[in-house]
Amino acid sequence: MSLLEVKDLSFAYKNGVQIIERINFTLNKGDCLAIKGPNGSGKTTLAKLLTRILRPTGGHILLEGKDISELTLADIGKKIGYVMQNPERQVFSHTVEEDIAFSLRHRGFKSEEVEKKIDKMLDFFELNRYRKTSPFILSRGEQQRLAIASVLVLEPKILLLDEPTTGLDPLRKKRLELMLRELYYNGTTLIVISHDHKFLSKLFNKELCIENGLMREDML
Ligand SMILES: Nc1ncnc2c1ncn2[C@@H]1O[C@H](COP(=O)(O)OP(=O)(O)O)[C@@H](O)[C@H]1O
Ligand SMILES: [Mg+2]
Repeated sequence: MSLLEVKDLSFAYKNGVQIIERINFTLNKGDCLAIKGPNGSGKTTLAKLLTRILRPTGGHILLEGKDISELTLADIGKKIGYVMQNPERQVFSHTVEEDIAFSLRHRGFKSEEVEKKIDKMLDFFELNRYRKTSPFILSRGEQQRLAIASVLVLEPKILLLDEPTTGLDPLRKKRLELMLRELYYNGTTLIVISHDHKFLSKLFNKELCIENGLMREDML
């Protein structure tokens, strides 16, 4: 059984414009999928469909064999960690550590466990010195790392990142690449949306290119 299976997926916003047209792809554990395509081609829309923020107008998305339309958002969230295109919208607590802790507490982890996991994430993402700082005064790159940390701490099977290199300098990009590589080696399945083809070419074993809502199948 595949981890994620997308079958004849179609989507139109209410204005009727068809954004996604009969897209098909399969993702197995350990895959690293790049989703490319020009601005406005439907990449973010696809991410929102995969996380059930939007509902397809046609076709199916199966997560470990189950149609996601039958799963709750919480069930999906446990399996797919989603870092949105604008990570600053994903930070919301008074302190950096609270942002990372929030969903852990929500899921009933004990305080000790929460502390351990926070420490690990703050170290890994080099955010330790901001522990008690408001996330709203961090730089974009730092907010990005925080958004990824807050999602990763839940240990999702699939990590979905939408345009993660936006606003990152070459050094930060390199670090992000190393971090993704490490996650990949540790068994996390990755989906990375980006128009930064140079960044993508370094990591991936599958790619999907969307243009005008259509997938270019020759790219797979
Ligand atoms: N809420 C919405 N309502 C109507 N059209 C939308 C909405 N969000 C995005 N679109 C349109 O859908 C198309 C694809 O957008 P998007 O998925 O954000 O593309 P990408 O992430 O590839 O840049 C664009 O033409 C955009 O204008
Ligand atoms: Mg987008």
